Amino acid sequence: MNTTFPQDALAAVTHADPYPYYDALAAVQGLRFDAGLGLWIAASAADVMAVMRHPDCRVRPLAEPVPAAIASGAAGQVFGALVRMNDGERHAQPKLALQRALAGVDTQAAELLARRIGGRLWRDDGLASWMFEAPVSAMASLLGFADGQQPAVAAWMGEFVACLSPYSDASQIGRAHAAALSLLAGFKELMRGASPSAAPGSLLSRVIAEAEAVGWSESHGLLANLVGLLSQTYEATAGLIGNSVLALARQPEEERCGVEDAAVLVRAVGRFDPPIQNTRRFVARDCEIGGAPLLAGQTVLLVLAAANRDPRGEGREFGFGRGVHACPGQALACAFATGAMEVLMAKAHPDLLRTLNWTYRRSPNARVPVFG
Ligand code: HEM
Repeated sequence: MNTTFPQDALAAVTHADPYPYYDALAAVQGLRFDAGLGLWIAASAADVMAVMRHPDCRVRPLAEPVPAAIASGAAGQVFGALVRMNDGERHAQPKLALQRALAGVDTQAAELLARRIGGRLWRDDGLASWMFEAPVSAMASLLGFADGQQPAVAAWMGEFVACLSPYSDASQIGRAHAAALSLLAGFKELMRGASPSAAPGSLLSRVIAEAEAVGWSESHGLLANLVGLLSQTYEATAGLIGNSVLALARQPEEERCGVEDAAVLVRAVGRFDPPIQNTRRFVARDCEIGGAPLLAGQTVLLVLAAANRDPRGEGREFGFGRGVHACPGQALACAFATGAMEVLMAKAHPDLLRTLNWTYRRSPNARVPVFG
């Protein structure tokens, strides 16, 4: 193996150039066990699909539906209700409602919204925070939070997402619990119709209507999943924007694509430098996948960023997941990132792209640049 390769599939997420390594991983057919990480690795398109389809591979370990570090507080209660973190009945109904509600969003209008909000928040010296604030504020706006409430929502979300990282310390988790309470209270307020923008036709009212239509009547679950829509927008869409900024900066200046091509750039980045590089499945029962003997309690790392590049994948994309847990927010995330990139292309000082310096945020699955 080339010595510049990342040490393993988790180190690859924040490596300067993990893609030759991912190509090599995707070329291996069949799951292999990485003893150093203690994880099964699935990286070819066929293997990732096989694990995603297998009924004994779940999104959470049976014995730990909510990570122990957050289980005792409000953030843990939100986590435990998310469709993303459940299988079976607790997944199917809410997923259908969210999927239908999100499918009804006009993506062109969402792109314009992100352009308006991103333009308002833009500062030449603020790229690092802007790429987080612009998409989550656009999502908050779609859900009915007024412009004046969005900075608080973005700040709470910045604190809440600490509950999703295994690297957070006790004080960050404490703030995540407090932020979860604020966000839940914010949605309760919106649902009481206190805000004029929570009007019929808004995304919030559509989620409520679709929840009723599928018979999903658990009010905590609904509130938690509304918080989930914001948290799922927050880091991944920031990463999509940040990686798109890097892709733009890598283009020769004279050939750099313009506002009209922002959507094409975002789409390519979503596949070839994706913000979510892997996800996991937890083995609920001993089983065999492609000859690999998986034992109950083991974990499979699905290397989405490698499967995206598998030439045998017939163009299938994995950066937004596939199958029953596929991301229902893909079109919206791309619209937000496109709107944000249009702002950057129109407003950024030409030196900005010439003088970028960055590292990647410490994460076992998200590739999100931190600009200095
Ligand atoms: C660039 C931005 C985004 C990326 C890269 C992304 C990626 C993903 C991936 C990979 C999954 C599947 C995880 C798995 O199978 O283990 C997923 C699920 C999900 N995403 Fe996204 N996502 C993004 C934005 C969004 C947005 C904006 C929303 C909401 C509006 C959203 C809502 C969800 C939900 C609810 C799920 C869970 C679906 C399920 O479990 O059935 N995502 N996303």
